Amino acid sequence: MYFGVDYHPEHWVYPYDGTPEAPESRWERDVELMVQAGVNVVRMGEFAWGCYEPEEGKYDFGWMRRVMDLFTKAEIKVVLGTPTAAPPLWLAKKHPEILPIDARGLKRHEGTRRAYCMNSNVYWDYCQRIVRELAGALGNHPQLIAWQIDNGLGGHDTEASFNEETRRDWHAWLKAKYDTIDRLNELMGTRFWSQGVTDWDQVPMPMAAPTVHNPALLIDWMRFCSDTIVAFARMQRDLLRELTPNLPVTQNLRALTRLFDHFDMAEVMDFVSVDSNATIKTKSAELACEIDMMRSLKKTNIRMPDGDCGFWVIEQKAGNVNWQEVNSLLRPQVVRLFTYQLVSRGACGVLYFLWRQPRIGSEKFYGGVLTHTGRGDNRVYQEIKEIGQELKQLGRVLKGTRIAAESCILTSHDNDWNLKFVNQPNKYFNQREHVQLFYNALHDRNIPVDFARPTEDLSKYKLVIAPSLQLLAGGEADLLKLYVQNGGTLVATFNTGLVDEHHIAPDTGFPHDLTELFGLEVLEFDPLPPGEENHLTIKGAFAATHLHPAKLWCDAIEPKGCQVLASYAKDFYAGRPAMTMNSFGQGRAIYIGTMSHQFFYYDLIVWLRQMCNLFPLLKVPDTVEVSMREKENTRIYFLLNHQNSPVRISFFNGPGLNDARAHGPIFNPERSAARGVQVARRLRSNPKSSKIRDHAMKRFPPSTP
Ligand code: GLA
Repeated sequence: MYFGVDYHPEHWVYPYDGTPEAPESRWERDVELMVQAGVNVVRMGEFAWGCYEPEEGKYDFGWMRRVMDLFTKAEIKVVLGTPTAAPPLWLAKKHPEILPIDARGLKRHEGTRRAYCMNSNVYWDYCQRIVRELAGALGNHPQLIAWQIDNGLGGHDTEASFNEETRRDWHAWLKAKYDTIDRLNELMGTRFWSQGVTDWDQVPMPMAAPTVHNPALLIDWMRFCSDTIVAFARMQRDLLRELTPNLPVTQNLRALTRLFDHFDMAEVMDFVSVDSNATIKTKSAELACEIDMMRSLKKTNIRMPDGDCGFWVIEQKAGNVNWQEVNSLLRPQVVRLFTYQLVSRGACGVLYFLWRQPRIGSEKFYGGVLTHTGRGDNRVYQEIKEIGQELKQLGRVLKGTRIAAESCILTSHDNDWNLKFVNQPNKYFNQREHVQLFYNALHDRNIPVDFARPTEDLSKYKLVIAPSLQLLAGGEADLLKLYVQNGGTLVATFNTGLVDEHHIAPDTGFPHDLTELFGLEVLEFDPLPPGEENHLTIKGAFAATHLHPAKLWCDAIEPKGCQVLASYAKDFYAGRPAMTMNSFGQGRAIYIGTMSHQFFYYDLIVWLRQMCNLFPLLKVPDTVEVSMREKENTRIYFLLNHQNSPVRISFFNGPGLNDARAHGPIFNPERSAARGVQVARRLRSNPKSSKIRDHAMKRFPPSTP
């Protein structure tokens, strides 16, 4: 298990530390403190271009080699960032054309990181040059185990630029996609508002304009910008593979907020790394959801430094952030709890951002492992040190384990971007919140869940949930049919299949291409303002524990062979179906025509769980989060107490439970301290005969209650 920090040695030379005689002397103390904390890996250099190449063509990698040599002695491994996120000022001065132009046509100036246009040939050339020089100088260092490409690609709203070179690439992209102008006009629907073109050059970039751009053009623009970012990363990856073929390549991604296709990006990377901001304000299930999304980006062809099969958290924030209005301290044990949450969901490397609070620059009040003093007597350092010791023991056991999920939530970037366009049927509908309702229901019942794009092979999942795929490509619809045809259970909802991949609404009824699968047609839909509600009248097998509201959106459904599970209680569509189920091939297709409160989704999952034979990992109190990593004969359970007080946990045998519980107690009874963590291993000596030996492997109560 890799455990480490993000280290910026370039910040820690004289006059910021060290002495005039020994300007780099602080580095040795840093290494000592890292060793004491159990650090075995550091990430460095992601913004160091200006220090590597202070003047064009004059390179100095010697300082970084000296740092890496210190790590050799300490047996600490190194990940180096390619420094292309922060081009030096001399480059922008010499080639101002690399600076990005915004949607109003204004230049975004030099003076910060990320000031570059990813379509600039000049910038590509300079990036290739610095990456080549860097790999030539340090690529053979024995401590180097991986590369990180750039840093925070797409951050600070830099996914799109509107430079002339962007326009050139945009037109080439459109030409490759549509082949002829006629086809572009037809599929983009340009006859609306006189937008027809006779030449590629006439197709606009969606710059600031009097009103909204054609959504068909916008969705292509989003795809083009995404392809541009992925191509920029691929260019660096290809170069690094050529120069240092044995070193895997990663990138620090953030939970699907940036506007590029993270699945495409994950395909380019050898393994996925993520940035995580765990703060006490964030609900643990929301964090868990984001971790599962990121974990799911790359399910195959993972190549990690130690041959493991998960993902890394390359920036786990060690303390407070610096971008909220009030940046409160993280309470004791919170970092530990959220570190375990990441590990419990598949992380096999955790690096804290950042090693020491910098004395210079705009991030000086970001919480670090060390404070500005660098003494190492601070609370956070002590906490990280404890985690380091614990993870050292756990690492061996966790190696090679992975999360195995039998349920899945579908997500598609095309659809997410499309849902952010203005002129939605209901601007109060929020897809992220919608996904979270389903996710909570699975998470709170301790049922593991993957995320996938609709084009992935879904056959391994017993249950697939497809919330509001408003933009659904014809090919995606076909794959959903295939999944159900072959025995799968699919749940889809309102706001599905309103447009196809060309942003054209169907003339065969909603949801497009899926009316036969669901055995219904949505005749019209009624978006409701917040606060206005209809209600569900439950019929048939679905059991309700509450009166369930219908909120934000009500589909008026015409059944065409489906079974009705619930109908609306009022309004002119009272008595019309609101929730249905249809047999299709070997499987079942369930349709929910509205949005409800959380209890509805709890009831839904209880019902689906039985229908699909899905088992909760363990049954524990609600405030305890459970996750499991497994390999052939071992299962590792993580129990995280998110409550600010201790909780008692008892495990008993009982009927109808899965084999995690059916073969005896894991620990019985057990108390988990406030914000405490328990990890338990169970070995299956002979999986076939289900003879299971249970162990409480290790309890890790926090030292500070
Ligand atoms: C990202 C970057 C870091 C730092 C943090 C601050 O994670 O990668 O360099 O700027 O944001 O939030």
